[in-house]
Amino acid sequence: MIVGVLKEGRAGESRVAATPATIQQIRKLGYDVVVDPGAGVAAGFTDSAYEAAGATVGDAAGADVVLGVNAPSPAQLDRVRPEATVIALFSPAFDPAMVEDLGRRPFTALSMDAVPRISRAQSMDVLSSMANIAGYRAVIEAAHEFGRFFTGQVTAAGKVPPAKVLVAGAGVAGLAAIGASGSLGAIVRATDPRPEVADQVRSLGGEYLSIASPEVEVSKTGYAKEMGDDYKAREAELYAAQCREVDIVITTALIPGRPAPTLITAEMVASMKPGSVIVDMAAANGGNVEGTVKGEKAVTDNGVTIIGYTDLAGRLSAQASQLYGTNLVNLLKLMTPGKDGLLVLDWDDPVQRSITVVREGESAWPPPPVQVSAAPAPAPAAAVAQPAPKKEPMTPKQKFGGVALGALALFLAVAFAPAALLPHVTVFVLAIVIGYYVIGHVHHALHTPLMSVTNAISGIIVVGALLQIGHTSTTVTVLSSVAILLASINVFGGFAVTRRMLAMFNRS
Ligand SMILES: NC(=O)c1ccc[n+]([C@@H]2O[C@H](COP(=O)([O-])OP(=O)(O)OC[C@H]3O[C@@H](n4cnc5c(N)ncnc54)[C@H](O)[C@@H]3O)[C@@H](O)[C@H]2O)c1
Repeated sequence: MIVGVLKEGRAGESRVAATPATIQQIRKLGYDVVVDPGAGVAAGFTDSAYEAAGATVGDAAGADVVLGVNAPSPAQLDRVRPEATVIALFSPAFDPAMVEDLGRRPFTALSMDAVPRISRAQSMDVLSSMANIAGYRAVIEAAHEFGRFFTGQVTAAGKVPPAKVLVAGAGVAGLAAIGASGSLGAIVRATDPRPEVADQVRSLGGEYLSIASPEVEVSKTGYAKEMGDDYKAREAELYAAQCREVDIVITTALIPGRPAPTLITAEMVASMKPGSVIVDMAAANGGNVEGTVKGEKAVTDNGVTIIGYTDLAGRLSAQASQLYGTNLVNLLKLMTPGKDGLLVLDWDDPVQRSITVVREGESAWPPPPVQVSAAPAPAPAAAVAQPAPKKEPMTPKQKFGGVALGALALFLAVAFAPAALLPHVTVFVLAIVIGYYVIGHVHHALHTPLMSVTNAISGIIVVGALLQIGHTSTTVTVLSSVAILLASINVFGGFAVTRRMLAMFNRS
């Protein structure tokens, strides 16, 4: 089959559905690729770069599998062949007219923005990959408008305080914005009605601002629900207080299937310092901020800039095209089980079913819901009914008894053991006491370097045991063999674990 890569028709769109790198991956699946002339120019990919990657330049709409970023124009759709499959961002959930139009056409249409947010589909989750880029770009736009450093500095010319950033909504875009703001050196705070994101915010160096409302609960779907009046009143108090203090606000709040909730009122904007910047990432969906102009930058009377751009991901067009293209390659891999260049739509696969808007001319929208669970697995009933018995701390009497018993055993050992054993017993006892206090107080985060120390000790044990293994006494030989075995497990196990950990940091 031939895969066609369309030139985007929408004004201002700079992304493209495939890059030279993803075209090579598509070709490895057995497809030939044809690219519209100039399809990648706005993203920095020339026709000759596509040709060097193995594609031909020609009419992409006439291919067997047609790839686009946005929904193709009516003229492009008219050129698609009846048995073809078109894959793009059709936004069927928000665009019933598009669903109706596609329903009248004879081909198959798959919408990448309908990929369910389940673990198995993560590699195809276009909304997440685009929101990740958009969250990063929102910070860059804010930094560009903000007339000062993000990071605090002490210079000969004076002290510069760090910028304070508030991120409302810690989903994919919000977390990317927290990470980017923190990397630039700002003090970052974030809030979200889903309390489970608190750790993620902290792991990126942000401070999680919780809202003490009985409505707050762990989400079962990974998405927030519409919050009640109590929560809204409390969050409004928090936003009002934060707006007076922070320099940058980035709003990303989204509740699926609903218009974006208004979080920042005109009054709050008016209370912000002149020169402050707000990036309203939900501008396309109605906006989280009063005064946002969709797709535009507006400056209020008190000098606050409100950015309502809806093309934040496209503003990093080469990066966005690469990630979007990779999401498409992952879908093609799923739909090309034989790696033979033949696209197969598996109707029983929930991911493929969820993204199908039209199948061979038959409308398939809306798809059945997919079970999504982002909530932590509930504890097994038995474990709840019978909590593990709590270990009681030792009473002073018990402690004293233990110490006395140990001292007696030591006295007997010293009194009756041969003189040659005495220094060994002393070293052994000291090793136990020192080891207990030193290792017991090492922080959990440092257990890996600690492991290398125990590896060194195990090495010494192996050498000692090797020296003893030829001893005339069978007991010594057996003990040496056991020592070599146990110490070797520690050494080789340590190497294996370290190798696995290092692999996590390997860029390739
Ligand atoms: N402007 C652009 O170019 C651009 C690009 C990509 C995404 N977006 C938009 O960015 C927004 C976020 O996208 P996402 O993929 O991160 O979505 P997401 O679902 O991963 O995150 C949205 C977050 O908002 C939170 N939220 C809901 N109600 C809230 C409230 N009252 N206060 C604070 N947080 C609340 C949710 O709990 C969730 O964590 C969406 O509106 C999306 O359309 C914009």
